[in-house]
Amino acid sequence: MRRTGCGTLRADHAGQRVKLQAWVHRRRDHGGVTFLDLRDRSGIVQVVVRREDHPEAAAALESARIEWVVEVEGEIVPRAEQARNPNLPTGDVEVLASAGQVLARSLPAPFSVESALESSSEETRLRYRFLDLRRAELQRNLLLRHRVTLEILKYFDEQGFLSVETPILTRSTPEGARDFLVPSRVHKGQFFALPQSPQLFKQILMVSGFERYVQIARCFRDEDQRADRQLEFTQVDVEMSFVDEEDVYALIEGLLRRVFPLAGVEPPDPLPRLTYREAMLRYGSDKPDLRVDLEIRDLGAALSGSSFRAFEAALATGGVIRGLAVPAAAGASRKQLDSWSEAARRAGAPGVLWLRRREGELQFQVKDALSPEQLQATAGALDLPEGGLALIAAGAERVVAPALGALRLQLGREYGRFRADAHEFLWVTDFPLVEWNADEGRWDAVNHPFTSPKREDLGRLETDPGSVGSRGYDVVYNGVELGGGSIRIHEPELQERVFRLLGISPEQSRERFGFLLDALSYGAPPHGGLALGLDRMVMLMAGAESLRDVIAFPKTAGALCLMTGAPSPVDPSQLQELGVRVARSSTGGEG
Ligand code: AMO
Repeated sequence: MRRTGCGTLRADHAGQRVKLQAWVHRRRDHGGVTFLDLRDRSGIVQVVVRREDHPEAAAALESARIEWVVEVEGEIVPRAEQARNPNLPTGDVEVLASAGQVLARSLPAPFSVESALESSSEETRLRYRFLDLRRAELQRNLLLRHRVTLEILKYFDEQGFLSVETPILTRSTPEGARDFLVPSRVHKGQFFALPQSPQLFKQILMVSGFERYVQIARCFRDEDQRADRQLEFTQVDVEMSFVDEEDVYALIEGLLRRVFPLAGVEPPDPLPRLTYREAMLRYGSDKPDLRVDLEIRDLGAALSGSSFRAFEAALATGGVIRGLAVPAAAGASRKQLDSWSEAARRAGAPGVLWLRRREGELQFQVKDALSPEQLQATAGALDLPEGGLALIAAGAERVVAPALGALRLQLGREYGRFRADAHEFLWVTDFPLVEWNADEGRWDAVNHPFTSPKREDLGRLETDPGSVGSRGYDVVYNGVELGGGSIRIHEPELQERVFRLLGISPEQSRERFGFLLDALSYGAPPHGGLALGLDRMVMLMAGAESLRDVIAFPKTAGALCLMTGAPSPVDPSQLQELGVRVARSSTGGEG
């Protein structure tokens, strides 16, 4: 007899005989009758073992405990009316065991698969990931990931894309994180880097004439771990020749409309767009969460003549004054106000001041600091309603915008201005090319060094780099950056100019990117593309909180694989062969 999946049994199978091979999910003994819930990938079904009717089956299955693997043969029978379980797809039937055997025993499990989340720590679950992965939720997530990946490849195939694998052992690609290095045994003292992305290879594939490339690509970045960041993660990496921004937008929107319905989500057609400037101004973020129905307003005009010190100083030094009005928040307590000010400080701003409208009267936190006209103008600019409260911050835009952006997200949720069931997609466009890194005293690429500046701004590349726009874009979903990309530089001279701007000397750029400059010198087509974070996308589609819930074998926040115990010390002979000496191991010993 052939094996049947536990979860596939239904009422109209009643009377049929089946063979199940599965794990014991639950077990209850009722003197002479044993109920075994058996679980496999397809689901769970209840098996009844009656000693009286089938003593041999009972004897064989008697010892079976939770997480043991068993085989059961028996008849599918309808359950009695009162014994039906509407919460289980197979809940109308059960299997009467007539034969059985144990296929594999299990040690007592450190947590129950059924109630793993409630009964164990994440650390224990990651240590025993093979058991954790038996949970229905993780099985569902990985199935979704499989379907999404398949749909993506089908879509790109239909669009004429070629999937090409690029190397894992390579030179470092600057994407802004630290590299993982791999020592070369053959060339002692030299190192491969694991790719932070296939960026340069995909551009070179364009030079080679492939025109349309896609790869489900593993990327490695040695950066601090967060719920939405892993050391190794997967990109849907795309590049196209002879295109502009509109071609990339159309392609990726088509993809999102194809993939998100797998999670019951229909992205809009077309996706709305916001420029980077507007996103920072109105939402204080370059990945705005448009589910929050609150907007930041600029108060520079309303407060321009103010003699209030903080405002005056901000405007005099080229900074901004901005505010966030929250309806129905005028009654906020002193404690709440303090906590918001604290949150603003954590986000880098000096703090926030409040303005409220109560019983028709405007009150500013610092009494008499503003004239009645200034109060009116400010409240007007904020659209501050009766009973509303506004939080105002002044200072450099780079600190004020994110501080108010963080408060917007927090207060939006606290004051019911958050639509939890909404799905908000958008493009953020027109990023600046570079930003000033005050610590290092140099210009850094906002995207990466291969992003094209806007043609019309090229004249200011050396004289006023901060004002130069880039041809970069991000696609954002519910406040998370799903992906980013750009139209690239395809002329070697312009690439060298941008390297120079970024403080990379001609010698350094030759040494690090000579192969790219060479490739660009042999007939490079105009090209551009984008990479989507596959893990992030699946995480959001699955409604999961962490990337760990959509990656089979993830790393912890502490950058460890608890199951395999990686990273780990290695045999001294291995190190010797590589010509590597450890200065000091993490346990403090000399290597
Ligand atoms: P970028 O660095 O923006 O672009 O990465 C693209 C997308 O990859 C995802 N992502 C991550 N996901 C999980 N863990 C991480 N540590 C992590 N870092 C990034 C994000 C992000 O939007 N080469 C360019 C793309 C291009 O220009 O075509 C690049 O890598 O979802």
